[in-house]
Amino acid sequence: MNYMEEFHRSIEISRKAFDGYFLPKLQSLFSTFGDSRVSEACLYSLEAGGKRIRPSIAINSYAPYLHSVEELIKDKNYEDILLIGASLECLHTYSLIHDDLPSMDNDDLRRGKKTNHIQYDEATAILAGDALNSLGFYLLSLLKQDLRTVKDCFQILHDGVGLPGMISGQMEDLQEEGKAKRSLLAENTDPVDKLLSIHAKKTGALIVSSFLLGNRLRTDFEIRQETVKSYAKEIGLLFQITDDILDVEGESTVIGKTSGKDAKNGKLTYPSVFGLEKAKQLRDESKEKAINLGKQLGETASPFFLGFPEYIAKRKN
Ligand code: IPE
Ligand code: IPE
Ligand code: MG
Ligand code: MG
Ligand code: MG
Repeated sequence: MNYMEEFHRSIEISRKAFDGYFLPKLQSLFSTFGDSRVSEACLYSLEAGGKRIRPSIAINSYAPYLHSVEELIKDKNYEDILLIGASLECLHTYSLIHDDLPSMDNDDLRRGKKTNHIQYDEATAILAGDALNSLGFYLLSLLKQDLRTVKDCFQILHDGVGLPGMISGQMEDLQEEGKAKRSLLAENTDPVDKLLSIHAKKTGALIVSSFLLGNRLRTDFEIRQETVKSYAKEIGLLFQITDDILDVEGESTVIGKTSGKDAKNGKLTYPSVFGLEKAKQLRDESKEKAINLGKQLGETASPFFLGFPEYIAKRKN
């Protein structure tokens, strides 16, 4: 088996474990909250699918050499790593629901289905996003780890989705598009610096959190932390460069979202700043950089870490 085959096996195992555990668990949790339109709207977006990349990252960052679902189920931290995955997916899904709102990107297609506010209405979509945001943190409170670990997990997640990460990235993204006013300090920022800042925060930060959360459950987490973080930052950038390219080149039926929206909205993206060909070249450079950073993990560099950059760079959705 070459390392790409091993990579695909690892990601399939984590996806299978996650899909077998995540939806039934969440559906039964939602049933304890009582039926409501907003609860239905949350499940609508969670069940719409998605690649489940962030949970897969957390699982493989925790257990880099997965051979089977059974092996993962036997692990003492099995429930906890999947809870972390569920938490990440809730936060990510909330970010997508809000990202699609008319006051943000104004999209009507997501994960191949109508966006939440089109299927329901704007008020319900805002509340469904809010509910998933709270739920993601609630899920972390169910972890059966010592207090220090749980506290670290809360902080890592907040760094990814809160003001240090995603929220500020989304703000800057909308400011560059002209949908929100710029602060005076940001007026003279170089577009390339701005682009890097937006991508690192709006997308990279939650990806970094996904790697760090998985890593946090390992006993050797401290010695791996900085290398995992540098690798994860590059992966975050690579992920968003690819997303920008797919918006230009992808077909709506394949990407599950309306293509060509970034240009229409006047977004600051890799293709808009560098042109499509140069954007692809920078994507490939980022991929190589990520592979090299992955190699620095030495023994624990697993096929997942080495294969993931290739997979992201080549993804079609
Ligand atoms: C889309 O993320 C939003 C970005 C951060 C670029 P994904 O491409 O992981 O979306 P799903 O979860 O598969 O729908
Ligand atoms: C995604 O950026 C950022 C978040 C959802 C936090 P985009 O706006 O490019 O994502 P898509 O293309 O709509 O999925
Ligand atoms: Mg956006
Ligand atoms: Mg968008
Ligand atoms: Mg996009």
